[in-house]
Amino acid sequence: MVRVAVISGSASPNRTGAPVVAWIADKLRAAGAEVDVVDLQDLALPFYDEPNLPRLRRYVHQHTKDWSARVDAADAFVFVAPEYNGSFPAILKNALDYLHHEWHYKPAGLVTYGGGLTAGFRGAQALRQILAALYMVPIQEAVAIPFIKEHVDGSGFRPDARMDQAADGMIRELLRVQGVLKTLNMPEPKTDY
Ligand SMILES: Cc1cc2nc3c(=O)[nH]c(=O)nc-3n(C[C@H](O)[C@H](O)[C@H](O)COP(=O)(O)O)c2cc1C
Repeated sequence: MVRVAVISGSASPNRTGAPVVAWIADKLRAAGAEVDVVDLQDLALPFYDEPNLPRLRRYVHQHTKDWSARVDAADAFVFVAPEYNGSFPAILKNALDYLHHEWHYKPAGLVTYGGGLTAGFRGAQALRQILAALYMVPIQEAVAIPFIKEHVDGSGFRPDARMDQAADGMIRELLRVQGVLKTLNMPEPKTDY
């Protein structure tokens, strides 16, 4: 069974995106995946505090060892992130920075949302650069949700038909690409940092 970590990148105590996380996790389960939902607020990593480079994997803190094991266990990721000031939240960059090999050669689907019309597109573009630096493979098919508060209420997330279709396409591609990446013989990492 494919294990997908759904990583919630909200830094706000309101977590407008929580029903979006539940929606995409349900869809992944329906597609046959095993899902680990990671709420970065609950994970509560401090600001990056390892003395050694992540690529050396010589972690000294228990919180890093735990995070490493959790990311290692995943075959693929779905990042659910709000847009903050034209990018993605710092809490997510911090969680990404902690590790190196654990992210390598795994596909990543993006679900972004925002308070305005941009639907988190700018956050998604910024995130793609970082994912590529960590040898992840961002999936082109993505979900982008504008005016998030119009789609979330007490009963959960109310996607329109296009969002549903986009999510299904993203999940299909994520699982397909994951199967191919799994067969890659892990080469030595090429970065020297
Ligand atoms: C610091 C900050 C910056 C924001 N910048 C943007 C932005 O650039 N574009 C946008 O569409 N919404 C922006 N918003 C609105 C959030 O995307 C929106 O409130 C969203 O619901 C937050 O999701 P969350 O509660 O799950 O963290 C911003 C919100 C905050 C707190």
